Amino acid sequence: MIRVCTTEDVPKGTAVSADVDGTQIAIVHAEDDNFYAIYDECSHEQIALSEGEIDGCTLECWLHGSRFDLRTGEPTGLPATVPVPVYPVEVHDGDIYISLEPMGERQ
Ligand code: FES
Repeated sequence: MIRVCTTEDVPKGTAVSADVDGTQIAIVHAEDDNFYAIYDECSHEQIALSEGEIDGCTLECWLHGSRFDLRTGEPTGLPATVPVPVYPVEVHDGDIYISLEPMGERQ
């Protein structure tokens, strides 16, 4: 796991973009109080998802409004149809760590 930032760097309801060993990752503090890590680029066009809106456990792309489930990376609405990688997150002593091994099997 790689230490990315502290929990205080990401207030609830916000996302920050971080370069993690050369991969741009959005660290999201969702409304369920959990932290999530998702690849910081929409699968529709090259738009930073970290600049979008958090709604529940989804992150909405500001350009065309596709929402991505932060737990799976799956888009929940068009125009995006391809999932975005999501990464395991752990919090220890106020520090946020992620693994750059994406989670889950996706078809
Ligand atoms: S660029 Fe994200 S939905 Fe179109």
